Amino acid sequence: MPRDKVRVLFVCLGNICRSPMAEGIFRKTVTDAGLADVILIDSAGTHAYHVGEPPDERAQAATGRRGIDISGLRGRQATVADFASFDYVLAMDYENRENLHRLGGDNARVEMFLAYAPDCGREEVPDPYYGGPAGFELVYSLLEQAAHGLLADIRQRHLRIA
Ligand code: 4NP
Repeated sequence: MPRDKVRVLFVCLGNICRSPMAEGIFRKTVTDAGLADVILIDSAGTHAYHVGEPPDERAQAATGRRGIDISGLRGRQATVADFASFDYVLAMDYENRENLHRLGGDNARVEMFLAYAPDCGREEVPDPYYGGPAGFELVYSLLEQAAHGLLADIRQRHLRIA
């Protein structure tokens, strides 16, 4: 069944740091490109620790400094239904990817988000939860690079525009 929108899900462990930042950053990237009506964006965690909670204050601060408001997002846990609902299920690190595979996602559907930033020198977005603000700045920079690569891929594969 053809979908009306391309659907993207960002996944980390708690859904309060990396994946809500990715959701906010990618939403801005997509909105700036005039494509907000054709791409649906969501995020989830593989664990339930922070279900219903807003993003971590440090994640809100790192995005807020760039004019991106993620305060309205709330944590949710990824479910097996997400694999059927989303065209892209993008893991922040190998542990998240492993958790998604255990939940039932196959290799074709689950990808590493940083695969879309091949020049960034990393394969994983490091977990910033137990570190300081610098970790959130690094996370922001990595997510922003991958957001541009992902949008280019969606344009090419789904929207057929350069
Ligand atoms: P996230 O960061 O996966 O980027 O949202 C974490 C948030 C919470 C925990 C670990 C990582 N935690 O252990 O509660």
